[in-house]
Amino acid sequence: MSQPAFHIPQAKLPALIQAMPKAELHMHIEGSLEPELIFALAQRNGVALSYPSVEALRAAYAFTDLQSFLDIYYAGASVLLKEQDFHDMAWAYLLKAKEDNVLHTELFFDPQTHTDRGVPFEVVIKGLHSACVRAEAELGVSASLIMCFLRHLSEEAALKTLDESLPYRELFIGVGLDSSERGHPPEKFARVFARCKDLGLHLVAHAGEEGPPEYIVNALDILSVERIDHGVRCVEDPALVERLAKQGTALTVCPLSNIKLCVFKTMAEHNLKTLLAHGLKVTVNSDDPAYFGGYLNQNFLATFADLDLDANDAYTLARNSFEASFVSAERKQAWIAQLDATFARFAGDAA
Ligand code: HPA
Ligand code: ZN
Repeated sequence: MSQPAFHIPQAKLPALIQAMPKAELHMHIEGSLEPELIFALAQRNGVALSYPSVEALRAAYAFTDLQSFLDIYYAGASVLLKEQDFHDMAWAYLLKAKEDNVLHTELFFDPQTHTDRGVPFEVVIKGLHSACVRAEAELGVSASLIMCFLRHLSEEAALKTLDESLPYRELFIGVGLDSSERGHPPEKFARVFARCKDLGLHLVAHAGEEGPPEYIVNALDILSVERIDHGVRCVEDPALVERLAKQGTALTVCPLSNIKLCVFKTMAEHNLKTLLAHGLKVTVNSDDPAYFGGYLNQNFLATFADLDLDANDAYTLARNSFEASFVSAERKQAWIAQLDATFARFAGDAA
């Protein structure tokens, strides 16, 4: 579908990015845990931390690759013990989402990070779910949960987690695959995803962040995923790029994450503009905002500052975020109408 061309000056882009309604489809709720909240929860729960202060913890956020981040991310999550902790963490993120004009968000959570420490699955999901319900009621922000399997753990562990989740099937909309990508290809979880598909769950997977383009192909062919999380390495396989464009498969790209984890050296070298030029259904997302230097609008602003993108790109990215979300066609239409109204207002002001 062709989209309208907007004549909105570049100087208005920051205000437009702030004001435009959008969805966030790739955000790990444990990655929204700010150092201040980590320290507050550690104190509340009597958990010892190996950093003396908030500043010392933040100073440790200098990552060289995905694994160097994951080590510190799993350590940060160790302060989460009670249902209220999970609620408070999600609520803090949802307030940020509201500030960024996020109308809808699909939140990843990693149950195994908690159940392996003895925290019951029920505690995790009930705390997160109650924050999602509260966000809809108090903020008008729609929020759903996607349960991720940790790919560095076994298929058996993932199947056990899926079993544990079944009594709460109605509290999450889909499953994903995250954690250390290299050496843990999608096919390791073929049987898990086949069961999830039978259960009618939505399916997504991280692929092509650090792993090769074949992981994207296998996530599509073997796991039957509906979206690819990251996917930036697809450009190394022209046939795959063509397929993704033709199928309209969404890529949930996370620009600040990619810089912090050294997938690209600088934002100017990020391939988001190239992905758009190939006609791919790209979305912008924050991944782990407490660790990577910014929530969703910061990701848009940093990307637009360095990649020569314009208001039409902003429209495409925001529209893609709604189109790629797992909601009814009616809800998508209503949100896109709000997006159109925002752009019409900015274009009118500029005329
Ligand atoms: N990649 C893989 N696993 C993750 C990430 C990521 O960017 N963030 C949290 N878990
Ligand atoms: Zn991620």
